[in-house]
Order: sequence, then structure tokens, then C-alpha cells
Amino acid sequence: MNLVELLQKRYSCRKYSDKDVDDKDIGKIINHASLAPSAGNLQPWQVIVVKDKLKRYSLSVASLSQTWMKEAPVHLVICGNVNYVKKFYKVKGDLYAKQDCAAFIENILLLAADSGLSTCWVGAFDDAMVKRELSIPENVDVYAIIPLGYSNEKHPNHKKRYDPSIFTFFEKYGNRKQDKSLFPLEKQVSKIKDKSKDIFNKADELVKHSK
Ligand SMILES: Cc1cc2nc3c(=O)[nH]c(=O)nc-3n(C[C@H](O)[C@H](O)[C@H](O)COP(=O)(O)O)c2cc1C
Repeated sequence: MNLVELLQKRYSCRKYSDKDVDDKDIGKIINHASLAPSAGNLQPWQVIVVKDKLKRYSLSVASLSQTWMKEAPVHLVICGNVNYVKKFYKVKGDLYAKQDCAAFIENILLLAADSGLSTCWVGAFDDAMVKRELSIPENVDVYAIIPLGYSNEKHPNHKKRYDPSIFTFFEKYGNRKQDKSLFPLEKQVSKIKDKSKDIFNKADELVKHSK
């Protein structure tokens, strides 16, 4: 699988089977995820691997009651040692710690997808509740909870994304290129195909009902 295929394969999974995840696979994912870049190579990320059923339930409640999370057999809770980064980078430390950990998180999501596992980046949670549940010190930030497991749902085939020509500027902010060769009409073509599929389906239904 090449990188683009892997990027397409990864999606936010919200239905998991109860099949356990091998500790060796978890170890490999965490190990390789730490190849992420970080400011000054400080590597401020920390991971708590949570398998305990009750704890997973509590984490799902702390995540604004996203109860689907608890079905995933593993939760990876991603924390960042912000103070450590601030020592080196002062006011920029907070931003750098967040960016470092975001790169680490994305690596986890991709490595999991590469191993046939599914994930979801969960950011909606009550920090205090998560910290209390897992005894996380006050000076450590929690950035994400990643449910990890085997999917029990269909891949959403294609992901909804803006066309890159909308958010890409050249030489100065707001300056878009008209050159169509830069961003081929790939997306528009697939949108047109989808639309025409819809139209044909609706036409089929109309014919069925008119009989
Ligand atoms: C910072 C961040 C926070 C997110 N928080 C949640 C969340 O709390 N619950 C959830 O179901 N998905 C969450 N997501 C996943 C997004 O909804 C998802 O990535 C987006 O809809 C695109 O879908 P895809 O991941 O399948 O490509 C979060 C993603 C990010 C990057």
C-alpha cells in the first residue's frame, strides 16, 4: 500500500468489534509513531495504554458521553509534557507541544490503518475527568484519546474534503491559481459520477413506483 492509499484507508471509525489488539502491535505502532518530528527533537509526547473495561467506560463518559468509544478494546490517551517544551521555547512552548503531539497522533492513526486496525481521533472530552481517571499530573496536558481496535463498520469509501484550489494560495494570501493542470478535475469528476448515480437511482425508483 502506498502512502496515498494509506491516507485514503484511514478514517474515523466509531464501531468496533470486541476482538483484542495484540500488545506487540500496540508497541510497534507507538514505537514507529515516535519517528514524528518535534521542535528541537524534544519528543514531549506521552501515551497511556488503557485496556481496562471500566476505565474505557469512564473515558467514554468523560468524552461527552461518546459511548461508542468504550467498544474499542484499547484507548490510547495522548498527553504532552508542556512544561518541558516551555523551558526551551518559552511562549512558543505551548504551541510546539501541541504540534509535536499532533504529528505523533497522526502517525499513530496511519500506522494503525497500515496494520489493519481502526482508530478515531477524539478531542471532545473533559480534561479534568480524564486526568482524575488516569492520575495524570496537573502540569501534563491531555491532547487526544484514540480508541483503537478492529472495525465493525463499512469504510466510508470516499472522504468529504474541500477542493484544494479553495484553500491553496500562491505567493500571497488569497491568491488562487486558475491553472486547472495543478489540481486536476479528479474530485469534480467523482462528484459528477456520484450525482449521476443518484439521478439514475432516483429514476429507477420512479419507474418502479409508476408500474
Ligand atoms: C482535533 C480533533 C478532534 C476530534 N474529536 C472528535 C470527537 O470528539 N469525536 C469524534 O467522533 N470524532 C472526532 N474527530 C474526528 C473528526 O470528526 C474526523 O476526523 C473528521 O470528521 C474527518 O473524518 P475522517 O477522519 O473519517 O477522515 C476529531 C478530529 C480531530 C482532528
